[in-house]
Amino acid sequence: MSHPHRLRGHILTYSGNPFTEGWQNTVKVVENSALLMQAGTITAIGAEAEAAEVPETSYPGHLICPGFVDAHVHYPQTAIIASWGKRLIDWLNTYTFPEEMRFGDPDYAAQIAHRYLDLALAHGTTSLASYCTIHPASVDALFEAAAARNMAVVAGKTCMDRNAPDGLRDTAQSAYDDSKAALTRWHGTGRARYAITPRFSPTSTPAQLHALGALWGEHPDVLMQTHLSEQVDEIEWVRGLYPDARDYLDTYEAHGLLGARGIYGHAIHLTDRERDRLSEIGAGLAHCPTSNTFIGSGLFDLAGLAGAGQAVGLATDTGGGSNFSMLRTMAAAYEVAQLRGVSVHAANLLWLATAGAAQVLHRGDEIGTLAPGHAADITVLDLASTPAISQRTLRADDIWDAIFPTIMMGDDRAIADVWVAGRRVA
Ligand code: GUN
Ligand code: ZN
Repeated sequence: MSHPHRLRGHILTYSGNPFTEGWQNTVKVVENSALLMQAGTITAIGAEAEAAEVPETSYPGHLICPGFVDAHVHYPQTAIIASWGKRLIDWLNTYTFPEEMRFGDPDYAAQIAHRYLDLALAHGTTSLASYCTIHPASVDALFEAAAARNMAVVAGKTCMDRNAPDGLRDTAQSAYDDSKAALTRWHGTGRARYAITPRFSPTSTPAQLHALGALWGEHPDVLMQTHLSEQVDEIEWVRGLYPDARDYLDTYEAHGLLGARGIYGHAIHLTDRERDRLSEIGAGLAHCPTSNTFIGSGLFDLAGLAGAGQAVGLATDTGGGSNFSMLRTMAAAYEVAQLRGVSVHAANLLWLATAGAAQVLHRGDEIGTLAPGHAADITVLDLASTPAISQRTLRADDIWDAIFPTIMMGDDRAIADVWVAGRRVA
């Protein structure tokens, strides 16, 4: 809405990166405070938001958060989420590729794009970076569905020219041409941003990676998203396919696909050289903990990487991930870190699912943080959404102790309201 509107409740704010500067110094919950928005943008928080006589929505006892940002999803996998019994390569061949084949039908692509975005919003996710399929119409379908909801979405045509079934392969040239046409049409159109999207090294020839690296060089303002070092078998396969590469990351680096605006999904089994290189470049990593446990991939080194200043965002990896909810994903990130001997604070988990992911999408000035000048993309959490959570929250010693049960036990029932660009949508 273009008229000013005030929200009232506990407000989550950030002044820095909790992994490198400490959560106590960077993350605050201002209790019983106010947030003012106008024309889709946050205009004031706290005392300044009190001044005007404007309509107000009050959320007593609720947490007003930045809308969740999901740094890595596959919207075409919406209908095959929670498919049983396979690890990565078999899972792709058995469930994913047959489903992605269906996106040759633009009507089906549109149907799933709308379904996926409705599910994302119902779970409090207002922005995301999605893979599409090899079909250009699958890109239009997602961006059109996002535009209808005024959502800030990053997406790109998935490129594969080998090791994928008939009907699900493009070529080096058509991947270049179709990606270029899609980025020309969509990048910067409203809230849409484009990501050049080679699926991963096993499904691209060196010629295709090279063509997409050249395209990125010609359009350095777009993003690039791909997968990196998710499973041990996959890494072995990459070694065989790229005998001259120093490691998995080098298959991208050698073809112009390593950059600060790159989003590398998973990044679990990294060599020292890969870690150093990702750090030097300032590349973004998408941590997908529900996927990593569901597909059996491994335990991401969140504390080591994010603690060293690597840009990390949280992601569901729908439908390799087992849930659409960033709350469930925060819980999985907590559990995976516990298995590595680190207890991640609730403040860090919320930051990863909002500002951290926004930073990886290079949209940190627009989304992921509640601050004047940022988009009014807002998710309101009910901290007592079920009897089980409510009885635990009643025992809470402080606000963080009241928030943590919702992170560990919450789901879409905890999403009290969602605002996108200042409009209530849920
Ligand atoms: N690696 C290549 N493609 C995929 C995918 O669709 N999902 C996951 N989890 N890993 C991948
Ligand atoms: Zn993925």
